[in-house]
Amino acid sequence: MKIFIDTADTGELKEAFATGLVDGVTTNPSLIAKSGRDFKEVTAAICEMTEGPVSAEVASTEAATMVKEGRILADIAQNVVVKLPLTWDGLKACQDLSEDGINTNVTLCFTPNQAWLAAKAGATYISPFVGRLDDLGADGMELIGDIRALYDAQGYETEILAASIRGPHHVSQAALLGADVATIPPKVFWQLLNHPLTDRGLDAFVKDWASTGQSIL
Ligand code: E4P
Repeated sequence: MKIFIDTADTGELKEAFATGLVDGVTTNPSLIAKSGRDFKEVTAAICEMTEGPVSAEVASTEAATMVKEGRILADIAQNVVVKLPLTWDGLKACQDLSEDGINTNVTLCFTPNQAWLAAKAGATYISPFVGRLDDLGADGMELIGDIRALYDAQGYETEILAASIRGPHHVSQAALLGADVATIPPKVFWQLLNHPLTDRGLDAFVKDWASTGQSIL
């Protein structure tokens, strides 16, 4: 499963990319607003940090304008993925942009039928929002499993991008259920490695090794 980082903060991205384990980035209008930066400028800056896919979301809700915006975003860099909402207009724009060879990420997915329609529209990625379903008392992970089963049964190649990740448990569950990508907030990304037994075990190994007085070098 690929790891994307869900932020428009280039400082946070720089640290995450330094691990060598990050494959791409997703942004959305809320994250752009949080960054306080110009949308096109920060998108270009992120695209320079990686050769991996960088999702940038259209602002319009009307198909023809989404297509115009999508083409402008796609011109920023070759690795831009145009993010479109899961509406009839968004799916129409998805078809048009896909026919032009532009990669798309259809976002705000909450049902298997929505995911199916996005795949039919040629979406490169589908973004099911796991955490927002959990917030309502539903089981967001069930949606990941259902979309995996549906895409496999129907032979769709649209990649399942688990989004709205709230904690490390979502990441491992998404991987177990066959998601192709998880887009992870920076805070959760750093939490993935943490375990007190790892820290305690390493402390003991370092101390015991020192007591031997040996050197490997
Ligand atoms: C994904 O592409 C979205 O940007 C993001 O995962 C939404 O997460 P949220 O529900 O925490 O806002």
